[in-house]
Amino acid sequence: MPEPITLKNWIGGRWSESSSGATLERHNPADTRELVARVPASNAADAEAALAAAAAAYPGWKATPAPRRAEILFRAAQLLVERKEAYAATMTREMGKVLEETRGDVQEAVDMLYFMAGEGRRLYGQTTPSELANKVCMTTRAPLGVAALITPWNFPMAIPSWKLAPCLLCGNTAVLKPAEDTPLSAMNFVQTLTDAGLPPGVVNVVFGRGAEAGAPLVTDARSRIVSFTGSTAVGREVGQKAAAGFKHCNLEMGGKNAIIVLDDADLELAVDGCLWGAFGTSGQRCTATSRIILQRGIHDRFLAALEKRARGLKLGNGLAAGVQVGPVVNAKQMQRILDYIAVGQGEGARLVLGGERVTSGDCAHGYFVAPTIFAGVKPKMRIAQEEIFGPVVSLLSCEGLEDAIAIANDVPYGLSSSLYTANVNAAFRALRDLDTGIVYVNAPTIGAEVHLPFGGVRNTGNGHRESGLATLEVYSEWKTMYVDFSGRLQRAQIDTGE
Ligand code: UN1
Repeated sequence: MPEPITLKNWIGGRWSESSSGATLERHNPADTRELVARVPASNAADAEAALAAAAAAYPGWKATPAPRRAEILFRAAQLLVERKEAYAATMTREMGKVLEETRGDVQEAVDMLYFMAGEGRRLYGQTTPSELANKVCMTTRAPLGVAALITPWNFPMAIPSWKLAPCLLCGNTAVLKPAEDTPLSAMNFVQTLTDAGLPPGVVNVVFGRGAEAGAPLVTDARSRIVSFTGSTAVGREVGQKAAAGFKHCNLEMGGKNAIIVLDDADLELAVDGCLWGAFGTSGQRCTATSRIILQRGIHDRFLAALEKRARGLKLGNGLAAGVQVGPVVNAKQMQRILDYIAVGQGEGARLVLGGERVTSGDCAHGYFVAPTIFAGVKPKMRIAQEEIFGPVVSLLSCEGLEDAIAIANDVPYGLSSSLYTANVNAAFRALRDLDTGIVYVNAPTIGAEVHLPFGGVRNTGNGHRESGLATLEVYSEWKTMYVDFSGRLQRAQIDTGE
């Protein structure tokens, strides 16, 4: 077994002990006998030290031309490509998803760095005519200052990159508080930025729990931007605290994503998509497919095919060849998933597959939950309404597109949705009427690309987007500039020439 890695906080370009003196241990969820990492359980004093370092680094970073900032991101992308294999393996040990997927997670960070690096020579504002002669009007994106970035464990490098790359490109500095389950992947990303030439203090990392290390970052007046990905309950608190300080605040929260399969769909393709959407990452994506809404004509055939394929999925340690589904992230999440399975049974849904913890063979020492399928689920059941965040999918039935869309939309969340059909009219109706931030046609609810906006409506988000150019709105403030070169007082709205 590889030796555990002990990290300290990364503040002002130096390793820094936590003043709490306490540590958190992280074990491999596929085999809990393996200690993977030890990190400080940081407190408010550590958070404040990190904010101070970020604030001190801000003037220098802000003054660095955006194309120069972008070159560092570009170099980091190149380094990350070289380190992809090693970082993916560490990520699998740290949080369980299979190697193919952790490679994808690192790749998503590479993509984001390249995308934002290109933005260094754009970061376009507007130049527009003035209503007055001999006057010009322009806008530019200005940085805000220090950003508090709080990231989850399910995409432990990709999501820090979604936040850090635009944050830095725009000229802000940052304190990152990664999930306590995934310190190594977050630090590997920051190490790569550092090796690419990022100056000390521009990114600082404090490890620890949200309530102790994360909350002070949100409330402290020095943070001007707050970006949080996690549960809706915590997001609500973060949003309210950030609002009290009039901060830019971006929240990415839960999902209850549905795939609709119509009778005319390519059934094999739909089964492929549902299998990947529901059980990839052991269902632990905000975008995971947790409901499948089937038109009656294909319902039974689809269910039989999905069950057969899901039954054949190989569970185990994500580092082992051929394993398709890894463990869930920790004991608490596992229990939560098992509790939801009990809820589904109590509500009268029909358990078709799975429904239990797996402890045999390779799974003996980890947190494994069997891929679970419920059929006969009714739209108002809790398992059809609440985010489970595990390998559990609910099958519902519908008469046609219209009621399928109504069922899909009738949940508190609105992140991702999908329709499988061969009918172009149905596809465009769904694109218009599915009330989610992301809609797919003939593809599962997962698989967003970095150069398009990512986020959702209702309880999923607060109106902002990550990724794409849309994310620049979170990390910059518009500055509007007027230059009057007429040499005399000109009055807007008054000197109309009438
Ligand atoms: C998440 O679900 O938490 O679209 C992020 C996807 C990935 C990102 C998911 N590119 O599934």
